[in-house]
Amino acid sequence: MPSNLPSPLTSFIGRQREIEEARRLLANVRLLTLTGAGGSGKTRLAFQVGAAVLSEYADGVWVVEFAPLSDPHLVPQAAATALGVPEHPGRSLTESLVDYLRARSVLLLFDNCEHLVPACASLADALLRGCPTLRILATSREGLRVAGEMTYLIPPLSLPDPGRLPPLETVMQYEAVRLFAERAASHRSGFKVTDDNASTVVRVCRRLDGMPLAIELAAARLRVLAVEQIAARLDDRFRLLTGGSRTALPRHQTLRAAMDWSYDLLSAQEQALLRRLSAFAGGWTLDAAEAICPGDGIAAADILDLLMSVADKSLVLVETRTGEVRYRLLETIRQYGGDRLREAGETDTVLGRHLEWYLRLAERAEPELRGPRQEAWLDRLEAEHDNLRLALEWSGARTPGTDAQMRLAGALRWFWFIRGYWTEGRRWLEAALTRRSEAASTALARALQGAGRLARFQGDYERARALSEEGLAVSNRLGDSESRVWFLISLGAVELHQGDYGRAAALFEEGLVLSRALGDKGLISMALSDLGVVARIRGDFERAEALLGESLALSRTLEDKWRIALSLHSLGMVAFRRGEYDRAAGLFAESLVRAGQVRDKWIADDCLDGLAAVACARGHYEHAARMLGAADALREMLGYRPLANEHSDHDRCVATTRVGLGDAAFTAAQAAGRTMTLEQVIADALAAGESLATKAKSAAKPTEGKGAGLLTPREREVAALIAQGRTNREIAIILVITERTADTHVQNILNKLGVGSRAQIAGWAVAHGVHTLSAD
Ligand SMILES: Nc1ncnc2c1ncn2[C@@H]1O[C@H](COP(=O)(O)OP(=O)(O)OP(=O)(O)O)[C@@H](O)[C@H]1O
Ligand SMILES: [Mg+2]
Repeated sequence: MPSNLPSPLTSFIGRQREIEEARRLLANVRLLTLTGAGGSGKTRLAFQVGAAVLSEYADGVWVVEFAPLSDPHLVPQAAATALGVPEHPGRSLTESLVDYLRARSVLLLFDNCEHLVPACASLADALLRGCPTLRILATSREGLRVAGEMTYLIPPLSLPDPGRLPPLETVMQYEAVRLFAERAASHRSGFKVTDDNASTVVRVCRRLDGMPLAIELAAARLRVLAVEQIAARLDDRFRLLTGGSRTALPRHQTLRAAMDWSYDLLSAQEQALLRRLSAFAGGWTLDAAEAICPGDGIAAADILDLLMSVADKSLVLVETRTGEVRYRLLETIRQYGGDRLREAGETDTVLGRHLEWYLRLAERAEPELRGPRQEAWLDRLEAEHDNLRLALEWSGARTPGTDAQMRLAGALRWFWFIRGYWTEGRRWLEAALTRRSEAASTALARALQGAGRLARFQGDYERARALSEEGLAVSNRLGDSESRVWFLISLGAVELHQGDYGRAAALFEEGLVLSRALGDKGLISMALSDLGVVARIRGDFERAEALLGESLALSRTLEDKWRIALSLHSLGMVAFRRGEYDRAAGLFAESLVRAGQVRDKWIADDCLDGLAAVACARGHYEHAARMLGAADALREMLGYRPLANEHSDHDRCVATTRVGLGDAAFTAAQAAGRTMTLEQVIADALAAGESLATKAKSAAKPTEGKGAGLLTPREREVAALIAQGRTNREIAIILVITERTADTHVQNILNKLGVGSRAQIAGWAVAHGVHTLSAD
């Protein structure tokens, strides 16, 4: 079942009634908001409900995490990222989301809406109005106040009556006691609730109002304190807060008191670390904490120990999701830490270091985004996206007169472009440009490049031209030939999109001459590829192939997968124009795989169109119609404008296929294509392309056949990747499938081949000549 529900770090206790209740309510309302004080278990319950109803939503349950965001503008972007919905020029992200969700059966989990209530409410409202089958389960300390919303105040964990203590086995049925017992045992192994300590444990749980977070914080102290000591100290603190009276505190104060208690028990160093950690948004890595949190008696070398020691106290979560270790604070604790940071007067210093660190990260990533380690760096920036946003925001607000925001935004321009954060990226870049303080700097040139490119891709040619012209002036003033080439090519691209091929070619030529003089392979490859496109459009195929071939060769030496995908697609177009359909299909399919590797959808979309055109030209109309449907859906989501010349190709292909199939069959096949996942589409396209490749290969290499037939084309693809030493996770990324699907494929291959290890699969693949199917 498709979903991004995180796998829980700790056991889940009880809540059967609440889960049933939430399911019942969700069946009757379209927006259900779980409300309650911080730390009362809203998020945990929502995830559990999401898992329980997973099978009821054909298109999955998707968590949209709002906790790390502070900018309400990013609310729709967070939903789009969770669902993988890209941008659409001329349409707001909310509209793109509506388009995407309209015909799907999805449950969205809006998690931690409280600090962005108006923005979350208006997104929920727009989505529910536009998408009849959508349901939303939200968690928030207060309701969203949207028409049709139902709020459900979640109760505390169940507790025994204070008056008389029931027998031990009954006590153990109460949720609060079970949570305490489980967490306690994880901090002190062998801990058990017994007849001797049961009344004290109940007293603690009662003191803490059955609030899960508070109970976890108290239980975490068992490593050094006895239950009796914990109870006594909590009593003291609460008596202080209630002025000695026995009345309970309001719920939110209970937790506040529990957190104060827990915080006060920390050493001064641990306290300083915890409050400084609150500066991170969306988690952090050890090296970041070591750079940002030292000071006042804490050295970088102390951070790891201190971190482990606050994690032991359940104040920090440790996650190892993508092979790397990341740390995180629960939202309530992060806010608490933020308050303490402000009180300590450290906010500016810590956020200043935070900015410095993420600026350095972005600037280190910048040159890597066009080379062999592109995917890893894109993923790294993606993992730090919320921290980068925070740094962008903070640098914009706090540091007038410096170019930190401009440098940061400029360094991130490729990340935003490739990963499809077009609107957001443009907004940051334009904001930095408005706030500029210098007439000419490298940072300014980069920001102009980024803003100009994104404007062009969104079809805002006027702005794109203005930005590139200004960029040209800036690079002249700087004497920076490299960025001069950039802007020449950018201006050429604007001309190309607007149909002035003569001017476009002249600008690309000028860029090529200059980049050759500089000896910069990346720039040369770019200029060649753009010139190749012009030659192709003009029908000069010989020249187009020569230019594009040289560009491809350069990209291969740079190992820039994104640009390799781009060149392969362009070469595919030339082959198609020449009537070499087999070659065209092979090139489009390889480009599609490459685009999938860097998770670019823009090139993928063009490849689908190309594959549709090939199928159409061959008279395989049903396949063509499916590809057209898939390409349309992707294009609508992505919303970029193809070149006018290519658009008429697309229209011709649609017309021919429609005639070839007949209206009804065409509509049906196209509709089938529209609902295919990208994974299915690629499999479909590759199956067609691959059967050709296999045919060609078996002519040349008679040994392949036999054993290879055991496996499906997709399994052979997986076997080939195993032979290349790829992990399942990498295979999943390359083939644009889930890791779980990759696991299943590997298991099937093991079964079919009757072997027991990956090494044997690799050996088999090499022996049967299928190990290079998707290699370069
Ligand atoms: N039923 C449960 N079983 C086990 N642990 C729980 C349960 N409910 C909550 N917890 C734990 O209590 C802590 C707080 O829960 P959670 O984050 O869900 O609270 P919340 O209401 O969403 O808080 P916030 O308002 O800060 O977002 C977490 O560590 C969570 O794992
Ligand atoms: Mg929460």
